[in-house]
Amino acid sequence: MTVSSWIATWAGLVPPGVAVLDVAAGNGRHTRFFAERGHPVTAIDREVSGLAAADNIEVVAADLEDGSPWPLAGRTFGAVVVTNYLHRPLFPHLFAALQPGGMLLYETFMIGNERFGKPSRPEFLLNDGELLELVRDRFSVIAYEARMISEPKMAMVQRIAARLIS
Ligand SMILES: C[S@@+](CC[C@H](N)C(=O)[O-])C[C@H]1O[C@@H](n2cnc3c(N)ncnc32)[C@H](O)[C@@H]1O
Repeated sequence: MTVSSWIATWAGLVPPGVAVLDVAAGNGRHTRFFAERGHPVTAIDREVSGLAAADNIEVVAADLEDGSPWPLAGRTFGAVVVTNYLHRPLFPHLFAALQPGGMLLYETFMIGNERFGKPSRPEFLLNDGELLELVRDRFSVIAYEARMISEPKMAMVQRIAARLIS
């Protein structure tokens, strides 16, 4: 699967060499993307069969929704990347996992996506302006979009590139 155009566009804001956390990494398309750019990457997902550990890739198998403690407590990263995944109780952990000045790159489906198929349940869809609201006062927003896309498929997405204020 190809790298998200949003992630590819804003990856340049992630300082060279900083550690990157790829949350709900799936088959690791962004894990490999950042590893190839020279970052140490931690990939976390409950299903890790599509993720291969390597010198600069750490794979963490964890269910992020079963009520267990956040598995990376105390660890921080220069960037946190999340695509096509939403579990709202994780936001405090994602923000706490960022070092001062760290980059949040987040892209997932939003309300309105139900007309195109799945995900269609409200718990998997961001509300209007939700990412902006979440980062307000804590992050410097570099880019934000809430729009329909046609590639890789028709969808309503919301996406943000924001830097944690030091
Ligand atoms: C649509 S995929 C997105 C994968 C990847 N971020 C990407 O964009 O290519 C959603 C991912 O969330 C993971 N996931 C779903 N529920 C999870 C949970 N409870 N704990 C950890 N990962 C979960 C799935 O295993 C899957 O890899």
